[in-house]
This record gives sequence, C-alpha cells and structure tokens, in this order.
Amino acid sequence: MSSIYLCYLVLTISLILLTDILQESNAFPTTIESLKRRDDLVCNGSADLCDLRYDQVTHPGTHNSAAYDLKFDCKSAAAVCSNKIKPVSKLCNLFDILCLQNGVSKEIVECLFEDNVGHDVATQLKDGIRLFDFDSCVTVDTNEVVRCHGSQGIRAIGGGFEPLFQAIRDFLNANPNEIITIEFNDGDGDYATLAGGIQSKLEQYFITEPGHSMLVTRKDNNEPWPTLRQMIETNQRIVIFFGYFYDSTPNRMPWINSKNYWLTDSYTYTAPDGSAASLNQSFTEWCKNASNVIKADENMYGRVKWQAIDETIGLTEDTFTSIKPLTKPKICLGDLARSVNYDLLDYVASICYPAYPYFLRVRLDFYWQSNLFKVTKDLNAKNVERVKKGDPLTPF
Ligand SMILES: *[C@@H]1O[C@H](CO)[C@@H](O)[C@H](O)[C@H]1NC(C)=O
Ligand SMILES: *[C@@H]1O[C@H](CO)[C@@H](O)[C@H](O)[C@H]1NC(C)=O
Ligand SMILES: *[C@@H]1O[C@H](CO)[C@@H](O)[C@H](O)[C@H]1NC(C)=O
Repeated sequence: MSSIYLCYLVLTISLILLTDILQESNAFPTTIESLKRRDDLVCNGSADLCDLRYDQVTHPGTHNSAAYDLKFDCKSAAAVCSNKIKPVSKLCNLFDILCLQNGVSKEIVECLFEDNVGHDVATQLKDGIRLFDFDSCVTVDTNEVVRCHGSQGIRAIGGGFEPLFQAIRDFLNANPNEIITIEFNDGDGDYATLAGGIQSKLEQYFITEPGHSMLVTRKDNNEPWPTLRQMIETNQRIVIFFGYFYDSTPNRMPWINSKNYWLTDSYTYTAPDGSAASLNQSFTEWCKNASNVIKADENMYGRVKWQAIDETIGLTEDTFTSIKPLTKPKICLGDLARSVNYDLLDYVASICYPAYPYFLRVRLDFYWQSNLFKVTKDLNAKNVERVKKGDPLTPF
C-alpha cells in the first residue's frame, strides 16, 4: 500500500518537473517536447512547416491589401486643393475632375488607387494570402480610422477595419492550422490617433471577444519567435507589425512588433522605380551587394535584418497629372503589376533568395495575376531543406 503511494508520489513529482521543463523549453523542439507532439499536425497545409519558426517561413502577402472598393476623399482633397492661387499638391487636377466635375470617377479611382480591385480580405484569405499590409487614414471631419490608399490630401478611402478583422477572425476560427501576419505601415493623419485606434480594434477582435489572445506576444526582442506548431497549439496565430507609427502608439501593447526593427523593406531601395526594367536593376544591385549589406547590418545591429521581396512599382506623378475627365487613364496599377508579377518575380526570387539569410515575405499587387503562390511554395521548400540541415536562417 505505502509503496504504491510512494510510487504515485514520485510519479506526480516527476510529472510536475516534466511539465516545468516543457514550459521552459518552448524555444527549441526537444526530445521531451516531442512527447506531446501531434505528429499528424499540418501547418498551413504542410507538415514540414510545423517545425520552422515564424521567422524561418516566407509569407505570401499583398501590398496595400485593403485597397479595393475605395472612393476619392473629396473632403481631404479640398483641404489642400481649394486654394486656387497656390494649390499645395501637383495632383489637384484629380480634385477638379473627381470632386468638382462629374468624370468617370469609379474607373479612375480603381485605376490609380486600387492594388487589389475586387479582392476583399476574405477572398484573399481563401486564395492563400497570409500576410496583409493595411494603409490607414484619419477622416477629416469625424476623426475615424479607415482603410485607404494615398496621402497628403490625394487619397481614396474605404470604411473602418471592423469587417476586415471580422473576416480574419472567421477565417482563423474555421482554419485552426493557419497563421496570419498583419502589418500597418503607411498612415495619413495623426499617428497617435491611427496607432491608438488600430490597437484598440485589434484588442477588441482578437483578444477580448475570443476571451483569449490570438496575438503572438513575446517578452522582448531577444525571445526566439515561436514555431508554427507552437503558434497553432497555443492558438496565438496572428503576428502584428507597426511601421511608421510604432513609436507614436499610446500605451503600446507588447504584441505590437516594430517592423523597422526586424525588416529592411525592399521599398527602401526600389522606391524610385517606375518600370519593370528599373525594378529589376534595383533588386539585382541590392542582391549582388548582399555580402556588404550583411556586414553593415552586423556592425550596426549585431544581427542581419530580414529581407523582403515586394515586387511592386508605383504610378509616376505624370500619370496622375495627365488624367483627363471622361477618358481612361493611360496606364493603371494593374498594368504595372502584370509587368512584374511573372518572369521578373521568378528572376528576383532566384537571384535574391540565395544571397540573404531570410526573406519574411513576398508581397505583390494584383496577386491573382501572378506567380506568387508558386514562388512562396518554392522558397518555403528551400527554407525547410535548410533548417533540416541545421541552418537557423535568422540567428537571434
Ligand atoms: C498557406 O497555404 C495556402 C494554401 O492553403 C498557400 O496558398 C500559401 O502560400 C501557404 N503559405 C505558406 C506560408 O506556405
Ligand atoms: C553595398 O552595401 C553597402 C552597405 O550597405 C553600401 O555602403 C554600399 O554603398 C553598397 N554598394 C552598392 C554598389 O550599392
Ligand atoms: C533582369 O535583368 C537581367 C540583367 O541584369 C536580365 O538578365 C534578366 O533577363 C532580366 N529579367 C527580366 C525578367 O526582365
């Protein structure tokens, strides 16, 4: 009797110890941890991806993800354009055409501002997009935070973020093995208003209502990122990044990550590009110069920043200023996207991937006319192969 009791006691104590070890060994998969592994787990459709950390996976994304179904913001344009003597923006011809005259406004707005025409967040999720980039604006009279594209008075706006967050929550609930990244980068309006408004909506949709936080929260930047398996098993499956307004966030919560701390946006070296040829040149130069960039990062930050393949080009100022009433613009966002989304994307991925330790994302406009999913699938197969061989990709 007493020996059975003793045995039970020993078992209980060792279980408690084991549980402690398990909890402390979150960072690395160990043999002990494998005891509680679900070997049948598939992470975003692939068993191999489960053992990769978040920062060893390349996430397929959209640029200006919520730029669909927008309206030109005449109130905001009026503020910079109604001064007839000296309009503040060269682009005020759009104000004249879209707000004062009765032009083909829907076509023009789609052409110039909508990177994801007809593809809302729910559609993007269904199609396989897992990383979002939401631009936000503060409305002129009502001080609301809305999705939008554009800045300094020349912008097109949609409604609030509620239906987008709802679509993401519905998708995650229906797909327990999927993980999602949401970035908030460009913003037009007071940064604290934008950051505070977005933070509280995220809290409402992904913490309060599920009664459990779905947002990945790390103690500090030295804590390793979780593996997809850990994210799925703890049901913390959303990673949040703030860009420009990270530092302006009132009462910033620990689940908000600084994009600029982790990542070098390809936009930093492709911003001036207005054609496929010059985008090609910018990526080629950046990736040929990788060993110097890596050395410079190591000197400056003591680590190598993540890279991105944002295969996008913007319309030139000339496209905007040459818009005429009742005529179709010469060139639209979709035309530019199609010129870089196929062969050039394949080419850039093939020369850049081997040059740097890690690519966080591949991000496009008009993803439904592209090689996006083929390219990210291929890069992730390479990521898996490298991690299996012991390459950490992003040493922390
Ligand atoms: C996740 O799965 C979808 C299809 O379900 C795919 O399109 C997407 O590229 C996958 N993402 C990653 C990171 O593998
Ligand atoms: C290569 O990268 C280094 C470090 O960032 C930079 O100083 C240098 O100007 C770059 N060279 C070229 C040709 O871009
Ligand atoms: C990109 O430029 C390189 C030369 O630097 C060229 O060999 C390649 O064909 C170009 N790729 C595309 C898709 O234009």
